Amino acid sequence: MPILSALAVRAALIHLLFGFTIGAILLSNKAVSLHPALWSMLPAHIDFLLFGWAAQLAMAVADWILPRHAQRPKRGSRGIAGTAFIFLNLGVLLVAISTWMPFNTSIRSIGRAFELLGVTAFIVIAWQRIATKQRQIS
Ligand code: HEM
Repeated sequence: MPILSALAVRAALIHLLFGFTIGAILLSNKAVSLHPALWSMLPAHIDFLLFGWAAQLAMAVADWILPRHAQRPKRGSRGIAGTAFIFLNLGVLLVAISTWMPFNTSIRSIGRAFELLGVTAFIVIAWQRIATKQRQIS
């Protein structure tokens, strides 16, 4: 498995751990009201699991297995792939910590923008790899 995919799968597993832990806290808070402020962790729960875990795992495995270009770099620009990885993880982290920061709405919006940038950067290289394969077949 390429190093970037391995890194992203490991990062996704860490997000899964945080997302499930927060989910369990939220669920306990529903059963026994621990503290109303715990509900503010819902955005962290959602972003850890939807973007940090599910989207990142799909992107990591796709970057590994999608058709490769005939010439180097075989998996497309590693710079763009690395940017996608950094922006996605930074975005999820910003959303997760925004709850405890001043200007939390702005920080959450910046985090979501980073997530969008990360996903868009991944789409750019993945799209080119599929297009390459189609040209080879036709
Ligand atoms: C991949 C797995 C998961 C994903 C993608 C996910 C996603 C979500 C989303 C999108 C919401 C917001 C729903 C809404 O506002 O209507 C939510 C809420 C919630 N999740 Fe998860 N979740 C996952 C796993 C879990 C787990 C394992 C737990 C508990 C251990 C959990 C506990 C909760 C709780 C307590 C809420 C709040 C429900 C409420 O508003 O009453 N989630 N989750």
